[in-house]
Amino acid sequence: MGSPTYFDFLAKFGIGGAHPGGILLTKDILTGEKITSKSKILDAGCGTGQTAAYLSQQYNANVTCLEINPIMIEKARERFKKLKLPIQLLQGSIEKLPFENNTFDYILSESVLAFVNKPKALKEFYRVLKKGGRLIANEMTINTRLSLKEETEIMKFYAVDSLLLEGDWNRLLADTEFQNIELQIQKQSLDHGNHAQEFNFSSNFEPELFHILNEHGNIVLKYQNILSYRIITCTK
Ligand SMILES: C[S@@+](CC[C@H](N)C(=O)[O-])C[C@H]1O[C@@H](n2cnc3c(N)ncnc32)[C@H](O)[C@@H]1O
Repeated sequence: MGSPTYFDFLAKFGIGGAHPGGILLTKDILTGEKITSKSKILDAGCGTGQTAAYLSQQYNANVTCLEINPIMIEKARERFKKLKLPIQLLQGSIEKLPFENNTFDYILSESVLAFVNKPKALKEFYRVLKKGGRLIANEMTINTRLSLKEETEIMKFYAVDSLLLEGDWNRLLADTEFQNIELQIQKQSLDHGNHAQEFNFSSNFEPELFHILNEHGNIVLKYQNILSYRIITCTK
């Protein structure tokens, strides 16, 4: 096995709410949407399922989860079972969604798009959303361009193929034919921490994962004015 990655760290630490602002920001954003018990929602890249559980409990919505990482899937499954929530959980990639066209009223994707082939995943999101359906995402965004060396440092650590400015996200979404595109910057920066963060540790994790946690902290601090995130909302 190769050296552990940032996602191995997230999965084995069982980080719930592994996105900037955590579940508190998620709840805040969702209050601006018209979610009901009839809403069919996809949590794309659900991690340990904290947001999906909230959607099911708070709105009694019809929630489906898709996640690629088997450890995350296991922890999400445990959570839904414990809470007795009727959430459908599938393993797969957001780059190739196992759903029919026009299936969902909402897709929520919190800090997942940034890590994949973005045009491919956005095209898939567009395909499986119903007409008028909404995409809500919380994604890594840089405030200004950095030197190649600095961008490479960030891209290598998070294993991302590109770092996007707000305008780049806008263009990608518009190219995918999304409408009503909004990108909101938040008051809270990445280095503010997440006080509602949850952990569900695996019993066997490598000590190197602490090194990854440390490196993540260093990057967030080093690029505190540049490495940021946006809340993205748009409509099909
Ligand atoms: C930063 S975590 C966010 C997890 C969750 N959305 C949350 O906010 O807690 C990113 C998640 O995306 C998952 N992921 C990465 N690539 C994926 C893909 N191609 N398809 C589905 N999930 C993916 C990872 O396994 C990880 O659980």
